Amino acid sequence: MKNEQQALKVANDALIFESEPTGLPPEKKTVTHPMEWKNEYSVGIKTIDDQHKMLLHCFANIQNSIFAEQAWSTIHYSIIELKELALIHFAVEDALMELFGYPKIAAHQRTHQNFLYKLDDILNISTRKSANKEMLKLLEEWQKKHILGDDRDYADFILSGATVVRSNNN
Ligand SMILES: [Fe+2]
Ligand SMILES: [Fe+2]
Repeated sequence: MKNEQQALKVANDALIFESEPTGLPPEKKTVTHPMEWKNEYSVGIKTIDDQHKMLLHCFANIQNSIFAEQAWSTIHYSIIELKELALIHFAVEDALMELFGYPKIAAHQRTHQNFLYKLDDILNISTRKSANKEMLKLLEEWQKKHILGDDRDYADFILSGATVVRSNNN
């Protein structure tokens, strides 16, 4: 019981909640998880936004499990779930970038591959404490740099008038 209380305290201390100005007493205010989807994350392509929502939900679950000091096996299997989700998502993005001839596709694909390698590395050391630290760093970087940066770049390219790459029948 004491461990449980300590874990909850760690979780509360570690999460930076943003309170919305609801005018309700503090304990009834709506809180936003740092990994929760926000409209400003939208890249403007519905399928991609929907998949990013699922990925961020998965990120939040893993983050919560780490902060609550859950068993390494719980975190391990959540990371496997994340990897499966990421594989599907990357396949969709790769197809989209190829269809529209996105010029930076190779660099973007390398970033996806590095994320998967990193997940594998973390899975291999998931019984160690350092794995959790690595995982939190990876999730935060991915949210800020990839979803809000790299993905927006290819989406802007497509939405700014790119057309599908046509067959060359010469
Ligand atoms: Fe993405
Ligand atoms: Fe991507």
